[in-house]
Amino acid sequence: MTILLLGSGGRECAFAWKMSQSAQCSKLFIAPGNAGTSAYGKNVNLNPNDFEAVKAFALKEGVELLVVGPEEPLVNGIHDFFSNDEALAHIPVIGPKKEGAILEGSKDFSKQFMERHGIPTAKSRSFSNENLADGLAYLQTHALPIVLKADGLAAGKGVLIIDNTAEAQEELKLMLGGKFGNAGSTVVVEEFLTGIELSVFVLSDGQNYVILPEAKDYKRIGQGDTGLNTGGMGSVSPVPFANEAFLAEIKTSIIQPTIDGLVKDKIDYTGFIFFGLIKVGDKPYVIEYNCRMGDPETESVIPRIENDLVELFNACAQKKLGDYKINISNKSAATVMIVAGGYPGEYEKGKAISGLENLRDSLAFHAGTNLEGGVVKTNGGRVIAITSIQDNQFNALQCATADAARVYFDGKYFREDIGFDLM
Ligand code: AMP
Ligand code: GLY
Repeated sequence: MTILLLGSGGRECAFAWKMSQSAQCSKLFIAPGNAGTSAYGKNVNLNPNDFEAVKAFALKEGVELLVVGPEEPLVNGIHDFFSNDEALAHIPVIGPKKEGAILEGSKDFSKQFMERHGIPTAKSRSFSNENLADGLAYLQTHALPIVLKADGLAAGKGVLIIDNTAEAQEELKLMLGGKFGNAGSTVVVEEFLTGIELSVFVLSDGQNYVILPEAKDYKRIGQGDTGLNTGGMGSVSPVPFANEAFLAEIKTSIIQPTIDGLVKDKIDYTGFIFFGLIKVGDKPYVIEYNCRMGDPETESVIPRIENDLVELFNACAQKKLGDYKINISNKSAATVMIVAGGYPGEYEKGKAISGLENLRDSLAFHAGTNLEGGVVKTNGGRVIAITSIQDNQFNALQCATADAARVYFDGKYFREDIGFDLM
């Protein structure tokens, strides 16, 4: 079948790598893709948010399956656009419609959803300009630190953790005053939870679901989890502290009630649900939902799935996940993200990348790269994810970290401590 994958990061490179191995994948297009995805399919210079352009391409090439990597086109309604268009309605879309993507697109909605369905999460209240005075008074008595979250998509920057009441009040005013544009016109004020985070993923067909391998993401730029937050500097799967009993608790208290809640709310959800969780004592709580896979979690999760990914997507599209048996490898995966100097602040692009041929036992999932005159160059902050899959986690970590050292470009940086804290 002819498949169109939207996106251009390490997540999409891992999807493309895996889908291209399927006997059912006769043609794979990635829009816009990167230098890495072009090894697994054909890159197409299309903006995933330009739905008319996606439509024209899908019709011209006879696309039979659309897989959406990032959240933005989903929150903007690309699945609805396909379903509502006579010429496109027959093409299954992996990724929820707007009514489902809002679990990520509105933190206020997702908090209300969790409350309504009894899903454990931090206590919170939402405020807008209409009740700013109530918000300021609420903050006055709130325990520290205080978590402030812009309601809408804010490119990963909309969450602030503040240790001082007056500062939190000031920030609330700034956020409601437009600091994050429209995304901050409602702000969720949330209790701070102390614990260790992990990411759990399911693929849902609207009634049934399969649970994918869990992963842990390392968000901070600096060694030892210090410095600014990034999109993610590395990941591991499985997660050693997520033992069978804890994963069973996640299924009972979080995954099943979420799927049941979607059904009760009549939200027909076809696609990934990413549960951003925190383990407080022995209990899991939801920090956030995303309507897509995580990046760089996908780079550790996908290589551990033994099934044919296209077959899995087809089962999802046909609402047959209830009969689907997912096979997860016992091996461990570790991913180390190589980033551009200066990231997550300002950084330069266009640096020639060398050493990829020297990797000993890892996969290179490209993120921010492109091909310029046959040379692979940097084209983003997160440049390449190096993933190693080994019989045990320590070997996977060592191998991925050593292979990350073998790649070079001017200004290159990576964390040498990803995953070692768990050993
Ligand atoms: P989010 O964009 O919702 O994933 O939030 C970004 C990060 O902020 C999370 O990965 C957590 O590390 C942190 N965070 C968000 N909400 C809370 C909370 N209620 N308690 C503690 N940390 C939080
Ligand atoms: N790695 C976190 C995310 O994809 O949002």
